Amino acid sequence: MERSLVLLKPDAVQRGLVGTILARFEAKGLKLVGMKMRTFPASLLEQHYEVHKARPFFKGLVEFMSSGPVVALALEGKDAIAVIRSMVGKTNSREAAPGTIRGDLGMSFSNNLVHASDGADTAKFELGLWFADQAELSNWTPVSEPWVYNVAEELGR
Ligand code: CMP
Repeated sequence: MERSLVLLKPDAVQRGLVGTILARFEAKGLKLVGMKMRTFPASLLEQHYEVHKARPFFKGLVEFMSSGPVVALALEGKDAIAVIRSMVGKTNSREAAPGTIRGDLGMSFSNNLVHASDGADTAKFELGLWFADQAELSNWTPVSEPWVYNVAEELGR
């Protein structure tokens, strides 16, 4: 099982799309293991987007992401990182394929609704940053798990 960090950005909150986007992840079969909403400080966003520090859009990105409430999610599933990235779609929402979250719900490059971890190392770093307190993460087993997966074949249990 993998875990990934997903952020529902200020545009998703302002547009009333939190439920719509979260419902897609839940319906897919991803397990919600952490969720919180807050206007997060620029200092956290600067750490989160450290890799983009030298890019021209860095300052605006940090300002945008700290301008209003963001919903941070920790989601779990088999191959969750890749599954979530494919559900989110290309960074530029105008180019994102129909059927993806950005492709169906967005029109912007910068206001692209969602952030999702792009690899195992990134997910580990980002989850440690946004859910530093382990008590904010829930370890639980959905009753639907044996119906979402073939447990013996796919989960090796
Ligand atoms: P996200 O997946 O959160 O990762 C970096 C974010 O930077 C990206 O989504 C976009 O919202 C934002 N961004 C703005 N301009 C650019 C750009 N030119 N290239 C990449 N990302 C950009």
